[in-house]
Amino acid sequence: MEVFRRKALAAALAAKILEVSPTSASSSGLFLAAPRRTGKSTFLREDLRPALEDLRALVVYADLWEDRRADPGEVVVGAVRAELAKHEGVITRLARAAGMDKVAVGGLSFSLDRVGLGEGISLSAALAALSDESNKPIVLVIDEAQQSIVSEKGNDALFALKAARDELNSSRHKGLRIVATGSNRDKLAMLRNSSDQAFYGAPLVPFPVLGMDYIQWFCDRLNLGAKLDPTQVFELFKRASFRPELLGAAADALRFDFGIAPGDVPARFAAAVEEQIVESNVEQMRVVHSLTPLQSTVLRVMAVRGNSYAPFEATTVDAYNMVLKSIDPGSDAKVDVSGAQQALAALQEKALVWKAARGVYALEETGLIALMDQAGMLAAVPVA
Ligand SMILES: Nc1ncnc2c1ncn2[C@@H]1O[C@H](COP(=O)(O)OP(=O)(O)O)[C@@H](O)[C@H]1O
Ligand SMILES: [Mg+2]
Repeated sequence: MEVFRRKALAAALAAKILEVSPTSASSSGLFLAAPRRTGKSTFLREDLRPALEDLRALVVYADLWEDRRADPGEVVVGAVRAELAKHEGVITRLARAAGMDKVAVGGLSFSLDRVGLGEGISLSAALAALSDESNKPIVLVIDEAQQSIVSEKGNDALFALKAARDELNSSRHKGLRIVATGSNRDKLAMLRNSSDQAFYGAPLVPFPVLGMDYIQWFCDRLNLGAKLDPTQVFELFKRASFRPELLGAAADALRFDFGIAPGDVPARFAAAVEEQIVESNVEQMRVVHSLTPLQSTVLRVMAVRGNSYAPFEATTVDAYNMVLKSIDPGSDAKVDVSGAQQALAALQEKALVWKAARGVYALEETGLIALMDQAGMLAAVPVA
């Protein structure tokens, strides 16, 4: 599929990322935050990566959402190993460092399994060898980085990357920058707070949503039998929370509607976008409507409390009970801590709730809060 390229944005970001700052000892990389489905991953792959490579950086890309079952720590290690595998010289270096002088001659195989967390060869050593051999700075791009703190290994990877960052940004090497994306500022903020972790101090930059230039491009390529006015389409795009897919789906819906008079196309397109918005909202709420009263209760309280949500505190348990009573006045069911625990586990299983390894819970998709509110589901939650 063809995408709209954002070359100028990519070039500007790439230059900033690679800049050696005279004020901060180790340039700490960058966090890009924007809501889901607004084009972050596409931008990383199609625009930012080539822009970084144009500036002679070596880019390693890890997508922590590609396989939701995989441990995020393993995914990061796997991405580094995959890059190492492309550079024979680096492997020879690492093998030598591991005391395997005869790697090439003797046919002794050096396994990349030895690179990893708590393995013989640290990520720091591996990335340093990679940078030295290629004579390039490395940019590690971590997509959906908030996933890195859902597991112990993911947390370990963050510690390992902090060490790597310090080592590679010393005058001996060419540098390591870490660029991370995520959909949720609060979750990303958690990653930046701990001084021994890789993202400490990294600036959090709102990733710009696609703009009028994209809409112009979209309208130019559209073939619906009549031209659309980009200004109007941009208004629709705003209503669609800047998600290109909704515009694409609306266009698809009209494409096979051969009976439309050209004069009706703009109005029909607008209606199709509105339909897509409704459909997307219904789709997001479908799973919410399938919850048990207890699960629904816990989700509602979490949605209202946000950052201050303390799942097992007495006042929270009181709030659960008030909400449950309002959902199901006839029942005399009670929520206790273990009930809340079970509900949280079920919500996590349904991918509605995100849990950091140290026990912080948050909604996976913050857009749900507004939808639940519109549906009147949050009214019964007492103010903390
Ligand atoms: N620059 C673009 N041009 C055209 N379509 C895009 C562009 N960026 C994103 N999209 C479309 O929007 C959808 C969501 O993009 P994605 O990059 O996966 O978003 P995110 O990573 O923010 O969730 C995809 O279907 C993608 O094809
Ligand atoms: Mg993405």
